[in-house]
Amino acid sequence: MILLTGATGFIGGLVLEALSTKNVQVRCLVRKPVISSNPNISYVTGDVLDQDSLVKATEGVDTVYYFIHMMGEQKEQEKFDILDRKAITNMVNACKENGVKRIIHLTGITNPGEKLSHHLSSRKEVEERIRSSGIAYTIFRASMIIGRGGGAFEILDTAVRNFPVIPVFNWGNTHVQPVYIGDVIQYLVECPDKKETLNKCYDIGCSEVYTYKELMQEYARQLGIKRIFVYIPGSWHRISSFVLGKLSPVNANVVYWLIESLHNNMVCEPNDLKKIFGFEPTSFKESIKKLAENKNQ
Ligand SMILES: NC(=O)c1ccc[n+]([C@@H]2O[C@H](COP(=O)([O-])OP(=O)(O)OC[C@H]3O[C@@H](n4cnc5c(N)ncnc54)[C@H](OP(=O)(O)O)[C@@H]3O)[C@@H](O)[C@H]2O)c1
Repeated sequence: MILLTGATGFIGGLVLEALSTKNVQVRCLVRKPVISSNPNISYVTGDVLDQDSLVKATEGVDTVYYFIHMMGEQKEQEKFDILDRKAITNMVNACKENGVKRIIHLTGITNPGEKLSHHLSSRKEVEERIRSSGIAYTIFRASMIIGRGGGAFEILDTAVRNFPVIPVFNWGNTHVQPVYIGDVIQYLVECPDKKETLNKCYDIGCSEVYTYKELMQEYARQLGIKRIFVYIPGSWHRISSFVLGKLSPVNANVVYWLIESLHNNMVCEPNDLKKIFGFEPTSFKESIKKLAENKNQ
């Protein structure tokens, strides 16, 4: 039995869709009750901040998919890291109590030696709590995921589509290695069958590295629209997140913390995923084409 957390979110929702086509039993942890019409899929109501609900949810479970973050949750915005710490501590404790064999997690890429943003240092802490839990794990780390509904991608899309002149602040030269959503879902869904991925962490991305300015330029090119890019010194964090929080479909708190993270490079360490999974990651240009054809995967 698999326990899927975050099933109502971007990643968890697509993982659920993919798991629904396999012959596996999936129990989804949700905060609001849902009725399932698929005999392989069930729902359990609970909250990662409520330890007792997690003990019930993990009963009889072998593998937990952990796709939770608290950036959009809190009333006192800057305290999301405290909630994320509590949530993963509860989950690890519940998994130990019920003998869960493996936790599969998706997080952000962090490059060594950099002072991490609030969002990325909290992501890193959750990852480290899983790695030191004593429970087997597989952790994938991604930067911007190219897919409809992905927070970072929706912000990119909003900025490029809405502004004929795009201000490039002092994060313009930060490096990023995006990854196509279809590839992410394939890694996540197939990894329980790949023994080599046990107790491993992988940075996932396409083979090209862009600066954020280059990424916006390439995206505009792929959309067939002309954009002018103007460097403006400073970070302009508050104003840019205010504007993009209003215009994009992404939760305004999430926009704020993702924009703060633009100062951190997100470039992949090499790995042997191609050998294990047997596919070459989709390029950024190809990802945009696939989205245009309305194939999120
Ligand atoms: N999206 C990206 O581009 C990206 C990139 C790199 C890494 N990641 C990682 O992928 C993971 C999932 O991100 P996402 O983009 O799928 O996030 P998301 O769309 O915001 O979904 C978050 C999920 O967490 C659930 N949740 C929040 N608080 C909860 C609580 N207290 N109890 C139970 N469930 C709770 C939400 O449920 P409700 O519906 O009840 O709110 C929702 O299903 C995160 O670890 C993130 O760091 C994402």
